[in-house]
Amino acid sequence: MSDIITVKAPVNIAVIKYWGKRDEDLILPLNDSVSATLDTSIMCAKTSVCARPEFKENEIWLNGKKETFQSPRLQNCLKEIKSRAAAENSVNEDFLQWKVRVCSENNFPTAAGLASSAAGYACLVTALAKLYKVKSDVSSIARLGSGSACRSVYGGFVRWHAGTNPDGTDSVASQIEGSAHWPEMHALILVVGDTKKKTSSTTGMRISTQTSELLKHRIKYCVPQRTDEIIQAIKQKDFPKFAEVTMKDSNQFHAVCLDSYPPFVYMTDVSHLIVDLIHKYNELSGSTKVAYTFDAGPNACLYLLEEEVPQVLSFIRHVFPSSNPELFVTGLKTNEVTLNP
Ligand code: PMV
Repeated sequence: MSDIITVKAPVNIAVIKYWGKRDEDLILPLNDSVSATLDTSIMCAKTSVCARPEFKENEIWLNGKKETFQSPRLQNCLKEIKSRAAAENSVNEDFLQWKVRVCSENNFPTAAGLASSAAGYACLVTALAKLYKVKSDVSSIARLGSGSACRSVYGGFVRWHAGTNPDGTDSVASQIEGSAHWPEMHALILVVGDTKKKTSSTTGMRISTQTSELLKHRIKYCVPQRTDEIIQAIKQKDFPKFAEVTMKDSNQFHAVCLDSYPPFVYMTDVSHLIVDLIHKYNELSGSTKVAYTFDAGPNACLYLLEEEVPQVLSFIRHVFPSSNPELFVTGLKTNEVTLNP
């Protein structure tokens, strides 16, 4: 019988977006991406796993509801962890045969473009790695669950290298800087809606990869330069540059969605209102104080420095006197995934 392993993993929000795959099975991206990993105290996934000889099947519960374990992504993650465990000789043969039970929950809206799958798979893979005593880097296994999950394995600012190897061995995440490098950096999450998105990121990426001319242009001419620029801005703690690149990249990603055929949209009128408000706020401030970014959903993630948080909060509360959007403020995550919280 194994112990129950419980792990917490953070959400990461990209500032250079990953959009489009060159290999759908191995989840290999068309472009490098960059993100910041948020503190687990506000938004995280929590997963418990255990293995027992008497379990007849692998089973999983997500947010209290039993789901199928047959998903290829789930199967791939478990298979890969087990083959690593076999290669590293970390557990005995019998243990590898036992079935597992997984119980996972998020403390934030699932599948509403809030990187829930990133935290979920980073959490699952880290918990399994601990269960099977796997020591090597698990970012490439988390990637098999959900591409962006590989970035949640590290804290601070993280780059996912697209890589060029057909087998994906070089498509891994690495830390650009830990959160201690820029402790003033904060994220403000505005939950505009928590309904499940109409177009999943898998479907959206497939349509964009097959049909969008803008995506081709973005990958060839925009992302490489933006990646260099934002890494330099992070290293030099140049907030206005960081913010400008972040906003431009978010806007281009959503333009790619519209350039796809058939087109699909993730942002709502409220999301667009937030964009206008942030530009107005920056204009009135005389310099760029806040950046917005939107993933595959209507919710905004604002990046801003700590000194700006009270003023931006009161500005948002003034414009939206009701509790919609719901607001969450957080710093960045210092370390990797938290074990046994
Ligand atoms: O990893 P997925 O399949 O959830 O895709 C994530 C895509 C975006 O969130 C829109 C961008 C990103 O880099 O996180």
